[in-house]
Amino acid sequence: MSVIPVELGARAYDVRIEGGLLDDAGAALAPFASKRPLAVITDDRVAALQWPRLEAALGRAGLASTLLVVPSGEGTKSWSQLEAVTDWLIEQGTERNDHVIALGGGVIGDLVGFACAILKRGCAFVQIPTTLLAQVDSSVGGKTAINSRAGKNLVGAFHQPSFVLIDPTVLDTLDRRTVAAGYAEVVKYGLIDNAPFFAWCEANGEALLSGDAAAREYAIGTSVAAKAAIVRDDERETSGRRALLNLGHTFGHALEAEHGFRDSLLHGEAVAAGMALAFHYSVRRGHCPAEDAARVTAHLRASGLPASLVDAKVSASGEQLVGHMLHDKKMAAGTLPFLLANGIGQTYLAKDVDLADVAAFLDSDIARNG
Ligand code: GLY
Repeated sequence: MSVIPVELGARAYDVRIEGGLLDDAGAALAPFASKRPLAVITDDRVAALQWPRLEAALGRAGLASTLLVVPSGEGTKSWSQLEAVTDWLIEQGTERNDHVIALGGGVIGDLVGFACAILKRGCAFVQIPTTLLAQVDSSVGGKTAINSRAGKNLVGAFHQPSFVLIDPTVLDTLDRRTVAAGYAEVVKYGLIDNAPFFAWCEANGEALLSGDAAAREYAIGTSVAAKAAIVRDDERETSGRRALLNLGHTFGHALEAEHGFRDSLLHGEAVAAGMALAFHYSVRRGHCPAEDAARVTAHLRASGLPASLVDAKVSASGEQLVGHMLHDKKMAAGTLPFLLANGIGQTYLAKDVDLADVAAFLDSDIARNG
């Protein structure tokens, strides 16, 4: 079991990680209960898989609960579902000091977190993430959002949870592709600033993907500790430190856009290909050893993740892909910051990237064949 503090002064909270913790959620959540039943929000897929465990655990601790189930999928991060969630919470009599429970993956965490950010000008919430991606990234750090017609996550708020409860055993119900997509975000922490952790991933990634409980718990703990340190230093992504977490996301966003943000390329898969492209582009700029980019590509592919445009089934031109990047919300004063690397564990934010050069790189064979 590990408890990782996210040190944010008045908004500080703990992330608790333990196999089987969902079955003990009653005791863990008791400090967050009020006189009203705990309001739990989940999606239809997670409701079938995890709600019976959570409901039973709350019942064993004598905690009453009430459940709202929304449809699963990215489309749920919408104005209409935000309205449905906030209306339901108001009907439940939720007050600002009550804790709403977000039980699910990144979609549920983002939607419920944003609903709680605006309900009565802000009420408290707890994250119980049920995908690897949500456990190692989106449930920690307080980014919440819905999508708008113009793009993903364009309407949102920073709103920190009061507690994050992570039970790695909930991943046992997921298929390997979904776990692998989340694993891309685990690898990301090694690539950002922790070369020994990337080497650990090379040695243990297969065990993690195959369900090894100790490997999963170690990787989640290491990832959450890395994210907690970054969020502590740069909660609102103003100093450039938190932006490191976007490694692979600018290239990846263009690939996701080519797929129409459909499940034919999952977000984590796009991030994987995006990270490989960022490393190969860094080699092209003369800052990164080619062997490091080759190691990144090899490990991602060995994990069943795409590491090039071809792997990601994208055949668009460099110009088209750069066109998607221009809609990135990180655009500032006509330039797009890119996360590049001097090597494995040495990621940095580059603000001098020429988008025509990126387009030429994407058109090149090395990018296509990775
Ligand atoms: N997922 C990136 C961040 O939380 O900043």
